[in-house]
Order: sequence, then C-alpha cells, then structure tokens
Amino acid sequence: MGRQIWTTKPLSLIHEEMKGENRLRRVLGPVQLSSLGVGAIIGTGIFVLTGQAAHDKAGPAIILSFVVSGIACIFAALCYAEFASMAPVAGSAYTYAYTTLGELMAWIIGWDLVLEYTVTSATVAHGWSHYFQDFLSILGIRVPHAWGFAPFDYNPATGHFFTTGAFVDLPAVLIALVVTAVLVKGIRESAGLNTGIVILKLAIVLLVIVLGSFYINPANWHPFAPYGYSGLSFFGETLLGKTDAGGNPLGMLAGAAIIFFAYIGFDSLSTHAEEAKNPQRDVPVGIITSLVLCTVLYIAVSAVLTGMVPYNKINIDAPISDAFRQVGLPWAQFVVSLGALAGITSVLLVMMLSQPRVLLAMARDGLLPESFFGAVHPRFRTPWKSTILTGCVVATAAALLPLRILAELTNIGTLLAFVIVCGAVLIMRIRHPETPRPFRAPLGLATPILGILLCLMLMFSLPVENWWRLIIWLVVGLLIYVGYGRHHSVVARLMREGKEVQPAWEGSEVQPVAVIADPPSPRTKRKR
Ligand code: ALA
Repeated sequence: MGRQIWTTKPLSLIHEEMKGENRLRRVLGPVQLSSLGVGAIIGTGIFVLTGQAAHDKAGPAIILSFVVSGIACIFAALCYAEFASMAPVAGSAYTYAYTTLGELMAWIIGWDLVLEYTVTSATVAHGWSHYFQDFLSILGIRVPHAWGFAPFDYNPATGHFFTTGAFVDLPAVLIALVVTAVLVKGIRESAGLNTGIVILKLAIVLLVIVLGSFYINPANWHPFAPYGYSGLSFFGETLLGKTDAGGNPLGMLAGAAIIFFAYIGFDSLSTHAEEAKNPQRDVPVGIITSLVLCTVLYIAVSAVLTGMVPYNKINIDAPISDAFRQVGLPWAQFVVSLGALAGITSVLLVMMLSQPRVLLAMARDGLLPESFFGAVHPRFRTPWKSTILTGCVVATAAALLPLRILAELTNIGTLLAFVIVCGAVLIMRIRHPETPRPFRAPLGLATPILGILLCLMLMFSLPVENWWRLIIWLVVGLLIYVGYGRHHSVVARLMREGKEVQPAWEGSEVQPVAVIADPPSPRTKRKR
C-alpha cells in the first residue's frame, strides 16, 4: 500500500482512456465555456451572502473583501488554467493531483470536490429559495414558515444554534430535483439553457450597478470598516482583528473568507474539459474570462449595495432586491428578484453538472464502483446514476441544513482544493519544467506560491469549527479509500499485474505532448 498511495497516474494512460467508447460528447466551444463559467459564478454569493457578510462581518469594507478574495481566486484560476491545458479530461483538480501527487492525494482532492460541488449546490438551492420566497411575497403569496426554512440555524451574535420552528426548506428541495431532471437529459440542452440564463443574469447585474448608483448616499460608506480590516484566527486563537460572541473572526478578511463563495465556480469549467471541442485553448480562456468579468462586477455591486443601504440595515435573505425596496423602487425589487432567481438557477445547473463528472473520473480509476458512478446513459450520454444520487443528496442537505453553515463548509473545502491545485502546478514546474504547456500561468513560481498563501489566509479567516468539519470529512473519505478504493484502483491492478507504474517521488510519467499534439475528437476516435 505504501508504494501504491504515491503512485501517479500516467498521462499516457489518460490518453489511452480517452479513446474509449464510454466518453462524453464534445460540444462546448469558448463562448459556451465562458458562459458556463459565468453561469457557475454569479449566484447565491453575490445575491445573498454579500448581505450577510456586510451586515455581520465587514460593513462597507466588503468591497475590499471582494478585491482580496478575487485576487486569491485569480492566482488559483491561473493554476487551474495551466493544468486544464495539460490534462484536458474530465475530473478537474482530481485528475491533476493523480498525475502529479499520487493516488492518495488524488482521492483526498476528489473527496474534497464532493464537498465543494454537492455542498455548494445545497447552499445555492437555499439562496434560490430565499429569492423565490421574496419574489412570491411581492406577488402577495407567502410560503408557510414551516416549509420555507431549514429546521435550525446559527446566531453569530450569541454563538449558539437555535431551532427555527420550520420543518424543511421545500422550495430548495424542489429546485434541486428539477435541475437533476434537466441534467439527466443532457449537456447540450443544459448548456443552451444556461447561455440564455447567463445573458439575463448579466443584464440584471448591470441594472443593479447602473440604477443603484443613482441611489448611493456616500454617508453610508462611513464608517468604512466598522469591524476592522483584518480577521484571522488559528484554531480558535485570534491572530489579528476582532471576534464575535462565538469567537469567530470579524473584519474585512473575515468578510473575504465568506464572500469567497461568490467566486466558486470558475474551477468547475475544468470538469468539462472532456466535453470541450478544443480543451487546451478554450478551457483556460473560459476560466480566466469568466473570473475577471465577475470580479469587476462584484466590486461594483458591493459598492452600490453598501452605498444604497447602511450596512447594518442590509437584509440578509435577499439583500440586493431589498435594497431597491428600501430606496422606494418596488418595480426594481421585482425585476432583481426575478433575475436573481434565474441567475441562481444557472449556478445550480453548473454545480450539479460538475459533481457527477468528478465522480465519473474517480470511478474510471477504480476508486469508486464503476457500475454505478461510471455509468453513462446509452441515449443521453450523461452520467445519469450519479446525477440522480447527487440530486438526492443536494435536496436532503438543502432541506435540513442552514445556509450559513453550508456556505462556510463549501468555502473551506474549495480553498483546500485550490491549495492542492496550486501545489500540483508548483511541483510540475519544478519537476517537469520542460513539459509543454499550451497555457502557462505568468510570474513563474510566484503564481502558485501566492495562490497557496492567499487561500490558506482565507481558510484561517473562517470560523474554526469549519476546520473540524473539514477534518472529519477527510477522515471519512480516507476510511472509504482504505475500505474500497485502494483494493479496486486501476493503478493497484496494474501493479499486481507487474506493469510499470511510478511513484510520485521518482517522477511521474507525464507525457502531455501526446495529448496536446493529438486532441481526441469523435472523428479521430472513430478512425482509431
Ligand atoms: N459562486 C456561486 C454562487 O455564488 C457558487 O452561487
């Protein structure tokens, strides 16, 4: 086992696998990919969590929180883009880790991506439910409290959990199930639907910025950082800044760690590499275009929101639409609510599209049962069984767990994934500087190093219990690996058959040239 866990998956093997029949369809171009990126990024983070973060953590300094978080994401995105151009197959960070760091690290990151995509989807379904209820209330319809919220929540002011008196968040469950049905049907339809929603979502965000800017009262930006500019702790010990009653960090950095959620999604593009027509060029273009665009929009939206409403009066359930109500523009509240609903739906679509693709990659490597997670529907060509499983888990988590807890858990899991991807790029740069990179991140080694440091900083700006939740999650994952994956892994089988495989410390057999020179397409596959 000692040797197996460090054994890397040769990229030549990945290339071999890409000739197989059980593949996804290559239908996505650069515009569709960038649109999937924007579709995955703009959602619950900007439309819901901005309110909570400005109200409880940062005040108007949330504008700077978006800058800091955006910079951390841009370093990570450059690393994702570099790797996606070298290993353009489904699986994203999981595949990158397998080719550089070995099987155990690959499993850890794959398991961590489950946390990212599934828990993000549950968080987003909650955000959708908030806006749906806001929208219905404008029409004079009220969802009964018992069916509109999770049964418990956490109060940062007292540091205690409390029951909400509700049973389940029913709208969140319903949207998760509808999206699951759309995804089982197929990616072409899903990507087309997504493009339409993305256009609507961008129009709404621009409306918020332009219309809202006429209602800015600069006095609302004072004090600019009522909770301070920092907010760092190390396992419960405050390193910098203030804490709330529960001992959780407060301040601009603490706000950055929460609204980091708003940026999650650009990385999901790398899970679609196998469905991209020209993955080496289009996946990096999609990742970087969508992230830069969203960063600029977020900074503008947060400036407008905190300028329109004093930070302590920002509504925490539907802050952006409510800001228009507060300045006396009910029609704009209606339009923004509707746009937010559509926008958040597209995030859910992309997140729930990504999860089964990571599971598919893991199943193909034998780390999960292939008969279930590797099953591609004969007609729709989608990983239908794992899509349905993902939908059921998302619906259950969204029904029962509060948004705040889901969002923080997502953030810490995703930040860990970013740290590992930046680490993998660093290792590849040092060990294989000669490998051709169709896309090379600028600034040499500084990019992955800064990516690692900034993501770690944000992890330490999250409330400490998230570290414990992450550790428990990873331990459960390790037990599954020891109980199943390590016996069934394809690499383990190759080792048993006496085939040549190399552990990470001997240098992985990375031959991306073959992949780059000969990007597989349905036509080349048939010829072979
Ligand atoms: N970035 C995505 C959102 O904000 C996950 O909803």
